[in-house]
Parts: sequence; C-alpha cells; structure tokens
Amino acid sequence: MQKVTLIPGDGIGPEVTEAAVKTIEAAGVDIEWDRQKAGIMAEKEQGTPLPREVLDSLRKNSIGLKGPLTTPIGSGFRSVNVALRQKLDLYVNLRPVKTFPGPVGDYEDVDLVVFRENTEGLYAGVEHKVGADAAESIKIITKKASRRIARAAFEYAEKENRDRVSIVHKANIMKLSDGLFLETCQEVADEFPDVGVDDCIVDNLCMQLVQNPEDYDVMVMPNLYGDLVSDLCAGLAGGLGVTPGANLGDEIAVFEAVHGSAPDIAGRGIANPIALMLSGVLMLKHLGEEEAAVRLETAIRELINESEVLTPDLGGEAGTDEIADAVVEKL
Ligand code: NAI
Ligand code: MG
Repeated sequence: MQKVTLIPGDGIGPEVTEAAVKTIEAAGVDIEWDRQKAGIMAEKEQGTPLPREVLDSLRKNSIGLKGPLTTPIGSGFRSVNVALRQKLDLYVNLRPVKTFPGPVGDYEDVDLVVFRENTEGLYAGVEHKVGADAAESIKIITKKASRRIARAAFEYAEKENRDRVSIVHKANIMKLSDGLFLETCQEVADEFPDVGVDDCIVDNLCMQLVQNPEDYDVMVMPNLYGDLVSDLCAGLAGGLGVTPGANLGDEIAVFEAVHGSAPDIAGRGIANPIALMLSGVLMLKHLGEEEAAVRLETAIRELINESEVLTPDLGGEAGTDEIADAVVEKL
C-alpha cells in the first residue's frame, strides 16, 4: 500500500485535508496516511514548527499531502513553508490553472501551467540591515537551479503535449541575474526541439495574462515572479479556493493548495476544500493512479459546473463537509 505523509497544518488546514482525504479514498486508491504535526501545534508542543519527524516522514515516504502552515509575522522562524522546500530541495513549484467552464471565473478557456523556481532568487533569505535606515535583500540566480527548473518545465511540456514554454524574466533591467536565468532556459530549450519556446518580460506578461490568458501555455520563471504570476493566474480561474499546487524535487513531492491557513474563516466549516482535492488529483497522477485522478477531477468539475453545492467563496452556501460528501457521492 502507498504510504503518504499527511500534514493537516494550521487554520483551515485540518478541515480541508480531512475533506480531501475522504475524496481521494473514495476515488478508489488505497493509501496509508502517515499523519504529521507541523506549524503552530508543533511549535507549542515541541518548540519548533517543523519537527524532524516531519522531514523524516517525507524523506521516507517521498510523497506528502499538506495543509497550509501559518507563518507568524516577526517570529524567529522565517517561514515553515520556505524551510520545508529548502530542506527537502523541492525546487519546482508547479501550479496548473485551468478554468471551470460555467459559473466560476471570468474566462472560458484558460489552461496554464506555471513553473516557479522554488529555492533561490529574491527568496533565498539573504538579507541584512545596512545601518539603521537601510536594508538589503540579495537576489541569487545560479545556472544549476535555472537549468533544473527549465528542464522540469520542458520535460513536462513534452510529456503533456504542450505547444510552448514561455521563459519569464526581467533581463532588460537585471541583466546579470535574470540574464543568466534567460540564457540558461534557452540552452535547455535547445534540448527539446519539439516544444516551442519564447520569452516575455514579467510586467508585460501580467497585462497580457489579464487580457488574453488563452494565449499562454507553460511558463517558467524565477521565484518572486512565480509567486506573483501564479496568484494572478489563480485569480483568472476561480481564486484560491480552487487552485492546486505541488512542490517537487528529484526524490520528494509535496502536494498542497496555493492558499494559506485563512485565519479569518478557520474553524467555521466553510473553507473550500477543492484546491486541496485538486492537489490530490496531481498527487494521484504522480503516483501513476491516472484513472483515479481523472475520476476525481471529473467529479469535482461536475460539481462546480452544476453550481448547486458550492462554498461561500464561490457564491454558494455549502460547508466544507458538504462539498466532500457531494464529491464522494459523484464518485
Ligand atoms: P490565505 O490564503 O490564508 O487567505 C487569503 C484570503 O483567501 C482570506 O480571506 C481567506 O479566507 C481566503 N481563502 C483562502 N483559502 C480559502 C479556502 N480554501 N476557502 C475559502 N476561502 C479561502 O492568505 P493569508 O491570509 O495571506 O495568509 C494566512 C496565513 O497562511 C499566513 O500565516 C501565511 O503565512 C500562511 N500561508 C501559508 C501557505 C502555505 O502553507 N503554503 C501559503 C500562503 C499563506
Ligand atoms: Mg504566494
């Protein structure tokens, strides 16, 4: 039986993970869940938000499904999520964004995939004060990290029969750092003659994505741009409640929704579990459970399309559990 590390997480995390687990099991896959505490509870009980057992479990199982973890502002710990990605070398942040025809979102036919470099760039965490009135954050771009995120994007495009990968950058201004990223991605593109390639400047891309999102396909970019652009893309297709994601390394894969712990609605039973369920779909594909993945995704899409049972973020009145039950019934 497949073992999967399950991190319920903080805020709405436990609510949406239970809902997702129910539907993944109903899709007919036997999974043994290895439940691990991280985040605020772990901090209280063990003095750290990221106990070693969590990392050990992920290393052992190579696959995880994770709820959001709260990062207290101003605490000593920078971000549990960032730490997890760095410690496990999860260098790919994958964000597929596909519109639901019908009630959710303003666009018809958007089908985008963002590959965000997950380990360096402006999020490398190299920051310092310069005297009392200034501070510096160092942006780090390496050939090694640029090459492996580019490979991930092009390999994905090839495997999924995608037409094109767009390299996103600001090399006109940051000639050395983004210049290296662009140049390295272009070198990798040469290894994939069957996949089209172009490049675009990130600010212009943002405008284009709002006006003509249908024109884009797979995109690859450094960390900060990826963070911003992938949230923009989430907004094109129904928002945080329905946007899945994955953090991938060579050995380990952790699947999680894009949204955070949503403290404003935590504990009220109204969080939308669909983003995490769709992350579960990505997980099933990764496990080679293609049929179960398609069944689960189809059930979720049908439910949204009928727009009778939806959570408040999508204009409905249903609770988290009702969504789970409705998806299970369809399965
Ligand atoms: P957030 O994503 O938690 O919430 C933003 C807004 O979207 C809130 O109004 C929230 O109610 C709503 N929302 C989010 N997910 C929803 C869902 N599934 N259903 C319905 N509504 C939903 O972002 P915020 O407030 O910036 O962050 C809160 C905490 O989460 C912070 O501590 C942050 O560090 C953490 N966070 C963790 C992430 C992770 O674990 N991967 C990702 C993003 C934030
Ligand atoms: Mg973000």
